[in-house]
Parts: sequence; structure tokens; C-alpha cells
Amino acid sequence: VKHGPERRGTAERPLGVAVVGAGYWGPNLIRNFAAHVETTLLWVCDRDESRLSAASRALAGTRTTTTIEDVLDDDAVDIVAIATPAATHLELGLACLASGRHVLMEKPLATSTADARRLVAVAEENDVVLMCDHTYCYTPPVLRIRELLLDGTVGDVQYVDSVRINLGLVQPDIDVTWDLAPHDLSILDFVLPPDQRPIAVSASTADPLGVGQACIGFLTLPLPNGGIVHVHVNWLSPTKIRKTIVAGSKRMLVWDDLLPSQRLSMYDRGIDATELDPEGRKNLLVSYRTGDMVAPALPEREALGGVVDELVAAIREHRQPLTDGQSGLRVVAALEAASRSVAEAGRLVPLEP
Ligand SMILES: NC(=O)c1ccc[n+]([C@@H]2O[C@H](COP(=O)([O-])OP(=O)(O)OC[C@H]3O[C@@H](n4cnc5c(N)ncnc54)[C@H](O)[C@@H]3O)[C@@H](O)[C@H]2O)c1
Repeated sequence: VKHGPERRGTAERPLGVAVVGAGYWGPNLIRNFAAHVETTLLWVCDRDESRLSAASRALAGTRTTTTIEDVLDDDAVDIVAIATPAATHLELGLACLASGRHVLMEKPLATSTADARRLVAVAEENDVVLMCDHTYCYTPPVLRIRELLLDGTVGDVQYVDSVRINLGLVQPDIDVTWDLAPHDLSILDFVLPPDQRPIAVSASTADPLGVGQACIGFLTLPLPNGGIVHVHVNWLSPTKIRKTIVAGSKRMLVWDDLLPSQRLSMYDRGIDATELDPEGRKNLLVSYRTGDMVAPALPEREALGGVVDELVAAIREHRQPLTDGQSGLRVVAALEAASRSVAEAGRLVPLEP
């Protein structure tokens, strides 16, 4: 263990934070760490100087730098939040974790399963928290969906159908699956009970623009109980859709994230098939349930506030956060398996339990 005798974050003072990467997403982390009562934003680091002035102009007392070394040399830094492109996550993450810092890593945790495993291992060796910013898991609808699945309200999951499409920014370094599907995969990982997570993935993608990067992706993931998950991610859609159906044997949920007045709807609908003749499977009694729809009241709350709450709690309580390094690793493993499936014409690639 390379840090001092005292594990960072045990003392009753605010936790010192550095945010690395102040591009598109970093400023959201900066704002949330600056606002939280239990954190003090000490540094903003970006190797592009022009990002620094824009990001930290309004923050008195926060220093800026273009090098991670300045951040790690400051003993007051307890947490490093990393919001740089995925290809830089391994190197930056290893440096921070090995210096005894707790790390909040943007999704995806890394660009390969092997790299994600190294990050998880180095966090364990240094007894520090490695949390993955699977932001959607901390939104009120997803937290409620998780509750409704874990407490049995939804029943056995029959299928999940998730659509995340818009006219998106074509990314130079990653395809649409690695860009958007981490959201769907991390949500699934979060809401499904551990023994009901997908067991394999089959994926197809297309690059009709010829930019060398798939901009349409379809993922199919069988569930252990015979159910199925489908994920559609797309940068080439005329309209923006963010909609997920979770169909269970007792209730069906529809989460439409673009409908602020009713993001989540719970339907008492479904089809019950009762077998009258167990031998022949010929005599099925099919009955339809078309009961009420209720829209649970949800708080309007910024998810990143919940991310910071959970990170601070995990550090203080010396426990794993809800979206820990292992969950980041499972998401990366599913993405890697999806890429392998694409390369092998859609073969069903098993996921490790
Ligand atoms: N949680 C979410 O919902 C969400 C949303 C968007 C992006 N992200 C993630 O955030 C990360 C950053 O994405 P973005 O869209 O903000 O990218 P971006 O390109 O807009 O910003 C990245 C910034 O990192 C800086 N940078 C790169 N390498 C660096 C290094 N070694 N040291 C210091 N600074 C460095 C760049 O100069 C740039 O300003 C990605 O992992 C992305 O997947 C997450």
C-alpha cells in the first residue's frame, strides 16, 4: 500500500477533489463537486489550457493545471474524478489509484476487459474506492425501476427493450455501441438482480456513412430465465428517442426519459398462459390482463448529485459504491463481447457470470 497509514476520507473534514478533463462532460462534475457540502473542489486539470479558463473561471479557490502530476503532488487531494476520453482512462486511473486516491471514472471504465480488470485490481490493492460514473443509475426513474424489480412488483422479467437514438455526434475514436450502449448495459446491470443478468450477447452494427465507425447498433442479450433484452443505439435517427420497456410477469414498465411530466409508467397488463394439458402443450388457456396504469411520483433531481452522495458515502463507510469497478468491468466485458459478435457475423458470445 503506497499511501500513508490513514486511509483517505476517514477524517471528519470535506474530501478534497480534483476533476481531470474539462471538455463536454467534465464541467458537470466540476459543478456538482463544487456544490456538495462534503467535497471541496481543489483542482481542475485539462491538458488543453483553453478548457481550463472556461471551466474554472467562476470557481474561487480552485487551482488549474495541465498535468496530472500537479494534482497527485497535492496531499489534500482525496478523490480524482476522471472525465477524459476512454482511451486515457487506464493510464490516468492507475496513477491515481496507485497514489492512494479514490477514483470516480467516467464510463466506459476502460477500453478493454483486461484494462478494466487492472483498474479494479489496483483499487483493491490500495484499499481505495473505484466508482464508475454510470450516471443514469442515479436518476429517479432508474432507482425506482430497480426497486420495483428487486421487491418483486414487476415479477419475472420477460423482456427489456431499450431505444437510445438521435441525430448524434459521430465520434472519431469509438463507435455508437461503445458510446451509447454503456448507458443501457449499466442500467441493466444495476436494475436486474445479479442472478438474472444477461448470459450472452449478439450484436449487429452498420456504417452506412462509410466513416469507418458504426453509427447504428442492435444488441440482443438472452436472459437466464428465457427472457430477452434488446438494445437499439443509433446516431442516425431523425428524432431523439430515449425509451425503455421492462416487461415482467406481474407489471410492465415504460420509461420515457423525454417525458418530464411522466417519465415512468407502470402498467398492470400482460398475458397469462396457463397450460391445461401439461403433456401435450396443446391446451393453453391464454388470458389477457388489461388493468390500470399508474405513473409513480418521482423527484426531479440531478443524477450527478446522487453520484457524488454515493461516492462520499462509500468512502466514509469503507464499502463498495453501488456502481463499483466490478460493474464498470461487467459493462466493458459486455461491450467487448458485442464487438466480438459483430466481427463474427452476429455470433452469440457468452458473458461470464
Ligand atoms: N456519464 C455520462 O453521461 C457521460 C456523458 C458524456 C461523456 N461521458 C464520458 O466522459 C468522458 C469524456 O467525454 P467528453 O465528451 O467530455 O470528451 P471531451 O473530448 O469533450 O473532453 C475530454 C477532455 O479531456 C482532456 N484530456 C484528454 N486527455 C487528457 C489527459 N491525459 N490529461 C488531462 N486532460 C486530458 C481533453 O483536453 C478534453 O478537454 C468519456 O469517457 C465519456 O464517455 C459520460
